[in-house]
Amino acid sequence: MKLMISAGPTREAIDPVRFITNHSSGKMGYALAEAAVAAGYEVYLVSGPVNLKQPDGLAEFIPVISAADMAKAVKDRFPVMDAFISCAAVADYRPVEISAQKIHKQDGDMILRLERTEDILQSLGQMKAAHQTLIGFAAETEDLRARALSKMERKNLDWIAANTVGVPGRGFQADTNAVTLYARTGEVVDFPLTDKKTLAEQMLQTIFSKKG
Ligand code: CTP
Repeated sequence: MKLMISAGPTREAIDPVRFITNHSSGKMGYALAEAAVAAGYEVYLVSGPVNLKQPDGLAEFIPVISAADMAKAVKDRFPVMDAFISCAAVADYRPVEISAQKIHKQDGDMILRLERTEDILQSLGQMKAAHQTLIGFAAETEDLRARALSKMERKNLDWIAANTVGVPGRGFQADTNAVTLYARTGEVVDFPLTDKKTLAEQMLQTIFSKKG
């Protein structure tokens, strides 16, 4: 099985020395990639900038920086994949203009204009063939279930992994996480707080032993 996974944050440049990003460490995506290699899958890891060691045994490692880079890398490869897990915390906005020179401070406030980036997963939801399995993540601070289910619908996903962020031991920088997996079929599977490696193994077993 050919499985592509996206991981980590993206960086959206403001000028040559500054960028906008988020707290994603890439740990969950890398744990999924490692578990998938161990399970014998052909794994393609598309990664934003992270401080993690590249997993052994990948079919391909594709480093990217911005949301636009990630969109291209993922969309180019998706047609030949059996499944895609979108674990990356893709920036939803980027600066309208990237200054070629360092921006120097001036008196008073500064306004930075942002524009939307592509919703990569939503694009893939539109490209998806019947045999392809699409899995998203929903990292939320509130209304976890409702928001996750609406994202699954809007992005045409087969599964969505919902997790709380902003709580110690869960989400972004943590080594542990707790998620609830919702399937398009209506199945709901709770994974209590555990290390991301164990969680990754359990999630892959659930998703790929019973097709969502
Ligand atoms: N995602 C993506 N491209 C984006 C934003 C998000 O592919 N530009 C993917 C993420 O990898 C994740 C899922 O979409 O699998 C959910 O992302 P999230 O940012 O939580 O949801 P949004 O659709 O951005 O919704 P909202 O801004 O309302 O939280």
